[in-house]
Amino acid sequence: PKFAVFASGNGSNFQAIADAIGDGILQAEIVLVVSDKPQAYVIERARSMGVASFSFIPSEFDSKQLYEQMLKEKLQELGIDWIVLAGYMRLIGPVLLTAYEKRIVNIHPSVLPAFPGKDAIGQTMAAGAETAGVTVHYVDAGMDTGMIITQQSFAVLERGREEVEQQIHQIERELYPAALQQLFDQ
Ligand code: GRF
Repeated sequence: PKFAVFASGNGSNFQAIADAIGDGILQAEIVLVVSDKPQAYVIERARSMGVASFSFIPSEFDSKQLYEQMLKEKLQELGIDWIVLAGYMRLIGPVLLTAYEKRIVNIHPSVLPAFPGKDAIGQTMAAGAETAGVTVHYVDAGMDTGMIITQQSFAVLERGREEVEQQIHQIERELYPAALQQLFDQ
């Protein structure tokens, strides 16, 4: 299948997915990286991986409906079947949810339904949670509320944020490509 990665920031998950494709672990094609932040490092990564990218500035559109309509047309022109969110910091609206029903997934750095929303790792640490982890889930209109596809958790123990964060990112790098391969195989 052909998919787009939506990202707003660093793009380490994009990188892991692109590497998994290069290594033959994931059989699919990243057709486009989409970013709502033209300066995001993910754009740089896409360029160096030879993946096409497209960025837009949401505030230049009158509504989410209008920019999603524009994105939808672009994705459909390119024959894109799936949208893979990887650090995309916006809620998906009805235009894309309808066009890509059950074809939009996200990765979130907590064991959902615990700690949805921004800074999930900070929330996990601030709550003194015993367990941290990562969730891959379908995307619906809510904030990190869609049906869970797979999760991986681990004990926080006495560790500080930095170490926990490192372990989360390490899990993400393996979990997301593997989850995508399973979804695409179904
Ligand atoms: C990841 O922790 C992901 O779980 C969350 O946002 C972060 C994105 O990191 N949704 P990166 O941009 O892929 O490096």
